[in-house]
Amino acid sequence: MQSVTQYQSYISDYLKTFKNAKEPQTLYEPVAYILSLGGKRLRPVLTLMTAEIFGTSCQRALDAALAVELFHNFSLIHDDIMDAAPLRRGKQTVHEKWNTNTGILSGDAMLIMAYRLFETYEPETFHELAKLFSKTALEVCEGQQYDMDFENRDDVTIPEYLKMIEYKTAVLVGAAMQMGAIVAKTDSENKNHIYQFGKNLGIAFQLQDDYLDAFGNPETFGKRVGGDIIENKKTYLYLKAIAFSKAIDQQELKHLYSINPTDTTHKINTVKQLFISSGAAEATKTEIKNYTDKAFEVLDTLRISDDKKTVLRQFGKQLMDRNV
Ligand code: IPE
Ligand code: IPE
Ligand code: MG
Ligand code: MG
Ligand code: MG
Repeated sequence: MQSVTQYQSYISDYLKTFKNAKEPQTLYEPVAYILSLGGKRLRPVLTLMTAEIFGTSCQRALDAALAVELFHNFSLIHDDIMDAAPLRRGKQTVHEKWNTNTGILSGDAMLIMAYRLFETYEPETFHELAKLFSKTALEVCEGQQYDMDFENRDDVTIPEYLKMIEYKTAVLVGAAMQMGAIVAKTDSENKNHIYQFGKNLGIAFQLQDDYLDAFGNPETFGKRVGGDIIENKKTYLYLKAIAFSKAIDQQELKHLYSINPTDTTHKINTVKQLFISSGAAEATKTEIKNYTDKAFEVLDTLRISDDKKTVLRQFGKQLMDRNV
């Protein structure tokens, strides 16, 4: 096992060798742009890490890892269009820098590039990777659609929200890990357990993403703080604030989530205040911990050395404490 920084550098080195065609520039430049903005590279790190955990060299997992990262970046370009987001990783989003049509097509190209990377594997592994990938990608679309649908609904429940984030975010984290396990050709029990570990970690990850969207530091967060509030996203913060509040605050929240003011300062500040005073902010923190612990429980069922479990546990803890 190696350090997270080591895995990250394998990925950025490998990305340098990645052949991104030149023409037409308007198709491929946004691809190079979004990839150059970096990000945490969480998912490909997990793919490499898992491959090593199950006994294969992480070099063998590089194509699968890159596929996951390409898919993730594709989904971010399209997500930023859907969320009308101006900022990504501290820089202009693709559709802001170019335009929406460019974002759509460059995103599509990245999805196909991701698929292509599986072609380097032998038929059996290729088949297994492609099958998992297709299933996951479709689930991400379903999650994203629920996310959009929920913007216009005022009766979203917590179980519905949890299913939405499982699909839009957590299944890809699970799949990233399972891909490492597939490349390592471990048995199906290990493959399933590592997927469950990743999925629970992924749910905690999205809860934390929602928390940071409201309470992150604008100087370092890299995305527009309050973006979810502006877009009337029915996050855990919002749903818990509704559940915990008295009628008058509920009304205020519901009203604020039914308007789209040009000046968003008042809306964002009032909502954040209500998230805190209602206890929703604290409840979200608790739920992040619960899902991280759930992931750790799955670890106990894995037949790997304690050292390896410790590395995975540390990784989960770091994710829970992140600010970006
Ligand atoms: C952002 O993912 C989208 C979510 C699923 C929450 P990350 O927070 O992993 O984004 P980067 O790749 O590090 O920028
Ligand atoms: C994004 O969720 C999930 C996918 C990209 C599939 P968010 O919309 O919360 O992600 P951010 O906050 O824009 O990174
Ligand atoms: Mg978004
Ligand atoms: Mg979104
Ligand atoms: Mg978010």
